Amino acid sequence: MEIGSGTGQHAVWFANELPHLIWQTSDLIENHSGILQWISDYPSTNLRAPISLDVAAEDWPNTEFDAIYTANTAHIMAWHEVQAMFQRAASSLQTNGLFCLYGPMKYAGEFTSESNRLFDQRLREQVAHRGIREFDAINKLAMDANLILLDDHDMPANNRLLIFEKIS
Ligand SMILES: C[S@@+](CC[C@H](N)C(=O)[O-])C[C@H]1O[C@@H](n2cnc3c(N)ncnc32)[C@H](O)[C@@H]1O
Repeated sequence: MEIGSGTGQHAVWFANELPHLIWQTSDLIENHSGILQWISDYPSTNLRAPISLDVAAEDWPNTEFDAIYTANTAHIMAWHEVQAMFQRAASSLQTNGLFCLYGPMKYAGEFTSESNRLFDQRLREQVAHRGIREFDAINKLAMDANLILLDDHDMPANNRLLIFEKIS
């Protein structure tokens, strides 16, 4: 399952590239028409129409997922939503399931690039609760939810891909 599929553009690419997976899109309801349009333009048999999912809401899907993926959401959500995302994602994963978080990250208070520092500034000017998150704070949320860090991949354009595994 993908949290915060956005336009759906990434989902159609992933579904096509990863035919061994069923790719379940999700987002807030206001993004569904755009996701459905991308799916309609680039259909894949393994790509599912979006489910309505607000990470902080009570009604999470009653399904156990092998893996949950989310890109560029942690710096957009309020911190309490990021907390909810980790707790609920962990409870929706089977044991040894993976939670994959893509996006920019700060380490020991430092941005990984000047462009990320400027991006963080723009985010906070737009909406006060937004901003690039601190790796240690994210990792603590993960540990509190029984998710252990397997990998922290360096990605293009100063992004990271954090891979967590649910241990129980
Ligand atoms: C910057 S967009 C990223 C979209 C896409 N994943 C990408 O990388 O292009 C942030 C996404 O987070 C979603 N989002 C924000 N708050 C959310 C919440 N409380 N629950 C679920 N999704 C949320 C937005 O609707 C939006 O699709």
